[in-house]
Amino acid sequence: MKPELTLIAAVDENLLLATAQGIPWKLPDDVAHFRAYCAGKWLLLGRRTFEEMTGWFKPDQHPLVLTSACGYDPKPGSGVASVPQALALAEASGQEELVCIGGGQVFATAMANATRLVVTRIRHTFEPGDRPVYFPHISGDTWDEERRQEHPVDDRHAWPFAFVEYVRRAEKPQGA
Ligand SMILES: NC(=O)c1ccc[n+]([C@@H]2O[C@H](COP(=O)([O-])OP(=O)(O)OC[C@H]3O[C@@H](n4cnc5c(N)ncnc54)[C@H](OP(=O)(O)O)[C@@H]3O)[C@@H](O)[C@H]2O)c1
Repeated sequence: MKPELTLIAAVDENLLLATAQGIPWKLPDDVAHFRAYCAGKWLLLGRRTFEEMTGWFKPDQHPLVLTSACGYDPKPGSGVASVPQALALAEASGQEELVCIGGGQVFATAMANATRLVVTRIRHTFEPGDRPVYFPHISGDTWDEERRQEHPVDDRHAWPFAFVEYVRRAEKPQGA
């Protein structure tokens, strides 16, 4: 069966993912949520994000690294040339879900195939600087909010945020 493609990200009020300096917030409970969601799963990510995350992957995770470079040989993981190729590899290995963890270019490419979005929505607008990276627009015509869990400000979290999950709305049959 074709695996579900989930996109997981943390974004500010303007869907900012990162600036030229990297991710401008520190939210330990979001990191824990991200680690828990990705545990033991096959992952899809861009070559830039992969190189930033060196040392992060656990032995039971299998990163598929999207790149245009032929012969790219990530350790751990495999290089892929497209999202359909990544989905085909995950399907062939019997995965029920492939989790896309960014960054901006890969989210933009993978959005069309995504069936679920797991988005940490931070209630703050960060300074985008001169090279901002954004998550794609989440259209209410395409995505239904399935669940939401609010997280307040506390001594470890300077901004309030919410863990929100969206599912792709079923397409109406033609002529309906
Ligand atoms: N806030 C969050 O949740 C979050 C999550 C993840 C990442 N980030 C941030 O996002 C930033 C990185 O994002 P980014 O957009 O600059 O880079 P990226 O998406 O991580 O990686 C871009 C690279 O992926 C490859 N690629 C992308 N689309 C492709 C396609 N259609 N076909 C083949 N290869 C493709 C290319 O690799 P080659 O150049 O090798 O061809 C491209 O240079 C970092 O700052 C990171 O910290 C934030």
